[in-house]
Amino acid sequence: MKVTTKCIRKKKGVEKISMITAYDAMFARLADEAGVDIILVGDSLGNTILGFESTVPVTLEMMAHHVRAVARANTNAMVVADMPFAVAHKSFDTVLDACAELVRSGAQAVKIEGGAKMAEKIGCLVEAGVAVMGHIGLEPQQVLKLGGYRKFGKTPEERQKLLKDAAELQKAGVFSIIAEMCDAEAAKELSASVDVPVIGIGSGPDCDGQVLVFADALGLTQTPPSFVKRYADLRAAVIGAYSNFVSDIKNGIFPERK
Ligand code: KIV
Repeated sequence: MKVTTKCIRKKKGVEKISMITAYDAMFARLADEAGVDIILVGDSLGNTILGFESTVPVTLEMMAHHVRAVARANTNAMVVADMPFAVAHKSFDTVLDACAELVRSGAQAVKIEGGAKMAEKIGCLVEAGVAVMGHIGLEPQQVLKLGGYRKFGKTPEERQKLLKDAAELQKAGVFSIIAEMCDAEAAKELSASVDVPVIGIGSGPDCDGQVLVFADALGLTQTPPSFVKRYADLRAAVIGAYSNFVSDIKNGIFPERK
């Protein structure tokens, strides 16, 4: 049965939510077979798959192309698509059109970075019928301004800001919130402060769920963030397999004549 926003909301306090990124049909199918609740077509597409330095250069067209690929996997898992930086800060009409494009491409919900500062726009989107997931703490789309990635919520001021961001997003009607790179104690307080599920990444164990970038979880990235748990070592496995392929060709072992 297809996971919906209602299913995700109902999991709060009952069952932890699992979420992983996928950018194509093959890995979306694999995540779905494993029973993942939410597949995120994240704009981490930019640095994970497309070779950019960050998520900033990702466009709506790139997002829609990969959302369509994931949607073709026809998963039970809910499909959430990131609103790219290039669009998120434009006018409400433009952002609504972008949501429509992502939904037409197969997303059930759209994730938008930014807390209180984005709440008014998100409220209008929800009013219009868009299912929105919030994203606070580290906002990777702000990396150029921040000058790098770091933890949030270590100081009382930042902790208060996180709580305010979450409260405003909840008021705006989001069905869940991503808390990225938040101090673990702050994330715990944050999760307890709202009724919607808070899904953490690099934010400790006390959130209502966890999300990872698939390439980090599968050990495909060379230097994953320190909070990542690697569930496989696919980088070594793939390089090993390709090396065998190359050597078989060079040595005339593959293909066999028969
Ligand atoms: O784009 C992405 O993959 C994300 C996750 C890191 C939450 O936003």
